[in-house]
Amino acid sequence: MSEQGHVITLDGPGGAGKGTLASALADRLGWSLLDSGALYRLVALTALRNRWDPNTTADRTSAEQKAAALDIRFLPDRGQGRRVLLGTEDVTDAIRSQNVSDAASKWAVQPAIRQALLARQREFARPPGLIADGRDMGTVIFPEAELKLYITASAEERARRRFEQLSALGVTANLDRIYREIVERDARDASREAAPLKPAVDAHIIDTTGDNVATSSQKICDLVAAKGWLAE
Ligand code: C5P
Repeated sequence: MSEQGHVITLDGPGGAGKGTLASALADRLGWSLLDSGALYRLVALTALRNRWDPNTTADRTSAEQKAAALDIRFLPDRGQGRRVLLGTEDVTDAIRSQNVSDAASKWAVQPAIRQALLARQREFARPPGLIADGRDMGTVIFPEAELKLYITASAEERARRRFEQLSALGVTANLDRIYREIVERDARDASREAAPLKPAVDAHIIDTTGDNVATSSQKICDLVAAKGWLAE
């Protein structure tokens, strides 16, 4: 273990189940959690509120300054994942809207924004350990992590899960449209020059297509147990 404690990274495309698996693992181990997507979403939310445009230099500079100083906290929510606080404001629901999702992946292609968030993300590492959830946790932010996981699922399955989530919330959704958006977002994340989405060379690939949360969690716990961390 380094001074900052252990680090387990979970990378992969949106909707593969990373967030659920990461927060369950953090709860099980009693480690901290970094939901790095929430940082990009917060930059996007702030940008939307201020009408900042990623293609305008002055707006990019404002977003960069905001990103470097983000006052964000993740609070356990009675076993139901985490609440996300921006200062004192609870932004958990606001950052999950479709507008924010789209804007987040547009701001995330900006190298200056990624750079501004780099140190901020590393500050989350602390003993006994950190579960880091994102796209570039194992490749860029924590390249020295002792256990790297790449969580994936087919685009069809991810679209279906999102559709069911929205239906359960009573939101009318269109499965084809969700599928198209997922494919577009994947392409944007994988083709960007700055930290494109790809598995670290030393990552274990976990495909959650057709598996429920318990099955995928068990696969992860087996890898964690092999490191001797479950009993610590
Ligand atoms: O994981 P989540 O869907 O919350 O992430 C929102 C967006 O932020 C992603 O579509 C991606 O573009 C970006 N992101 C990123 N690098 C990360 C985490 C998220 O580029 N480590």
